[in-house]
Order: sequence, then C-alpha cells, then structure tokens
Amino acid sequence: MRLLDLRDDGLGAALCAATGWHRLPHALHAFPDGETLLRLDEEVRGADVAVLADLAHPEQRVLRVLLAAGALRDQGAARIGLVAPYLPYLRQDTAFRPGEAISARVFARLLEREFDWLLTVEAHLHRFASLAELFTVPAYNVSAAPLLAGWVRGHVAEPLLVGPDAESAQWVGATARRLGCPATVLRKERHGDAEVLVHGAIAPTWRHRTPVLLDDMISTGHTLIEACRLLRAAGLPPPVVLAVHGLFAGPAYAELRAAGAHTVLTTDSVPHAAGTLSLAPLLADALTALAPVPADAN
Ligand code: R5P
Repeated sequence: MRLLDLRDDGLGAALCAATGWHRLPHALHAFPDGETLLRLDEEVRGADVAVLADLAHPEQRVLRVLLAAGALRDQGAARIGLVAPYLPYLRQDTAFRPGEAISARVFARLLEREFDWLLTVEAHLHRFASLAELFTVPAYNVSAAPLLAGWVRGHVAEPLLVGPDAESAQWVGATARRLGCPATVLRKERHGDAEVLVHGAIAPTWRHRTPVLLDDMISTGHTLIEACRLLRAAGLPPPVVLAVHGLFAGPAYAELRAAGAHTVLTTDSVPHAAGTLSLAPLLADALTALAPVPADAN
C-alpha cells in the first residue's frame, strides 16, 4: 500500500513508520488565481493507494482530494482509498428546514464516485446509525474511545465523564465503560451557530471528581463553553475538555480556556496546537487490518 499524504503535518509520516507503507512523492502547485495543480511523481499503475487528507474547512480542501483521486485513477492505480480522520458535513444529516441540502448525503455521493473505500475516526453519526447508510463503498469508522480512555487513565485520578448533549452519549458511554468511571450527559438547546444553552445537574456524590467534558468535535466551542460554565457554577473543579476533532472556529480555543477549562486537548485529526493526541497508532492498526496482505509477504 502507498500513501498519498496531502496533509504534511507529521501524521502521514507517523502512519508510514507504523505500517511500513511508502509515501508517494507528489507536488502541489497553487496558481495565482487560487487553482491547484497536483502531480504524482511516481508510477502508480496497479498500486493500492490511500489518500490521507485533513478535511476540516472542507471547501478549501475537498477539490484537492478529488484531484488526487482523479490523477491516481487516470494513471492506473488499482484501488484508491481515502483516509480522512475528520469527515465533514455529517452534522447536516437531514433537512432541518424545507429546501435545505442534506450535506451528509451529497458529500457521500461525491466521495464514493472517486474512492473505492474510506476510513475516518469517530464520524458524527446521529440520524444515520452507521456510515453504511450513507456510502455504497466500504466506509470504516474507527472509534477514538481507546485513545481518549488511555489519556484519561494516565492523567486524571478520579474522573467524572460529562457529555454536553444527547449525541455525545455514545462517545461518553464507550469511554466510561473502558475506564469504569461514572458518566453523565447534559442537555443542549441550540438556537444558532453560537447560541447554545446547556442544562443539567451533577449528583452531589460526584462533585469532588475532576469533570472530563467529552465531545466528538469542537467547532465554535460554545457547546463546551456552556458546559464548562455549568460545571464551574455547580462547584466542580476546573474541567478537562477532551474532544476528538478540534476545528476551533474563530476564538473557540481562547474562549474555552476563559470559561474555566484547565486543559483543552484533542487528537491530531485536525492540525492545531491543542491536537497532541496522535491518531497514528489507532489508524495504523485499523488500516493494517484492512490492507490485503501481498502474496509474497509470507
Ligand atoms: C453536535 O452535536 C456535536 O457533537 C458538537 O457538540 C457540536 O458540533 C459542537 O459545536 P460547537 O463547538 O460549535 O458548539
């Protein structure tokens, strides 16, 4: 298997080191008018290739991924996969108002025209129970729970896992089961991109514990900012904020710190200073399990 690494932030190199895969030499040129030229600098005929991409802020990056798939296909690659640790557009999984695009479906249709398979981490699944309901090609969703649980185990003595909303129950539950610690889920009302209310109460028996707020993603940060405020107002110690995908729109990171979080940590699914939990081992295990073993490997 070869890796076409469109990220260049270290995750691809770590993945190749862990899997023994070869990083495909390529070049990207940005024309003055904003268009991109992608060139493969190696023969790919008959090769299995995975394209690794950061798809946060997707409207600037999706086309690059499509150019990569097109070049690989045109030059005879055998199977082409997409490794997108963060898979965007999944929150718009229905038309909330008449006439709205169901972005999750539209985006899935676009990707499956170009890729033979895809793999992501902790996909935001709410109205779709699995990626198989969205994609007709094999689509693998890797759980980040082992990674998150491992970090909490090593850094927080008496954790209380807290989910900020109903959707987070799945991630909070999977992580709490691994840790054998208590967990609770708050209730969220969203009235706009940055208008969020979070409600809930924390049982008195848990108030000495360190709250670990856990969510799949931080975008504007308002979900977790409001949850932080609620926990501080309830007299709990400063919370640890832990998320899989740190999109950190605008001042989200600074505002989370200002709301009383003493640690804000995410995986490196999206490059950011807070993204220090490496997904490389998790991705390497998942991809190794998927990769066909070459006939001459035994
Ligand atoms: C929503 O259901 C997600 O799980 C996150 O809670 C949400 O997308 C976070 O967005 P924001 O940081 O903008 O509140």
